[in-house]
Amino acid sequence: MSKKSNDSKSRMDFQALRKEYQTDGIDDERLLDNPIEQFRVWFDAAVAASPGEWFEPNAMTLATADSSGAVTARIVLLKGLGEGSIRFFTNYESTKGQQLSNNPAAAVVFNWPHQGRQVRMEGSVTRTSHHISETYFHSRPRGAQLGAAVSRQSSVIQSRQQLQEARDRLDRELGDQPVPLPANWGGYQLVPTKVEFWQGRLDRLHDRLIYLAGDDGWQRFRISP
Ligand SMILES: Cc1cc2nc3c(=O)[nH]c(=O)nc-3n(C[C@H](O)[C@H](O)[C@H](O)COP(=O)(O)O)c2cc1C
Repeated sequence: MSKKSNDSKSRMDFQALRKEYQTDGIDDERLLDNPIEQFRVWFDAAVAASPGEWFEPNAMTLATADSSGAVTARIVLLKGLGEGSIRFFTNYESTKGQQLSNNPAAAVVFNWPHQGRQVRMEGSVTRTSHHISETYFHSRPRGAQLGAAVSRQSSVIQSRQQLQEARDRLDRELGDQPVPLPANWGGYQLVPTKVEFWQGRLDRLHDRLIYLAGDDGWQRFRISP
């Protein structure tokens, strides 16, 4: 980064970056008993109100931790909802894959700024079935399949050219054949035990409703902003 752009960055007036949230809020009575079902309602609304094609309502920040407790976060795409789980796809040998092998606890966060909404989930992660991984992998464009097949995600590479050549070589070798699902690639499902719905309100008196999984099903609480 040039010195000039560094300087202009440092003059940013962060105090002036202030937004007032003026939404209607969460009506407790109308919330569904199951948080995944409630999530589905909010997700559909986030998609319907999407501000444009550039916006990805299914983008979520995924936090994982290694066994020493060091945390890593990155964005992944939500690619399915199960009965009590949410699903995403990735490389099993990536940093997140290695962390999840050692420590299956994870958290995800969705930010839907066009609605002043946030959803957080915490729980435990397991791999999806081979069938689910394979079906999803082959539903992707062929270019994305080739890319996933040659990428050893999160490991050091010599150059971008090396990656491009590996992709082109595999494409040539396969010809008309389908790209096989890589052994190190597939889905994960997060089964949440805690889900929070946040709606921004006036004067920072936001609405926060949490669902906690208990022996008798889900319990719901309103918590302080
Ligand atoms: C909008 C967006 C969507 C992404 N979706 C995915 C995804 O679905 N799966 C994935 O493995 N990486 C996805 N990535 C890349 C990840 O953020 C990350 O760089 C990658 O998974 C490696 O993370 P790790 O080294 O912590 O394992 C996405 C990035 C962005 C910005």
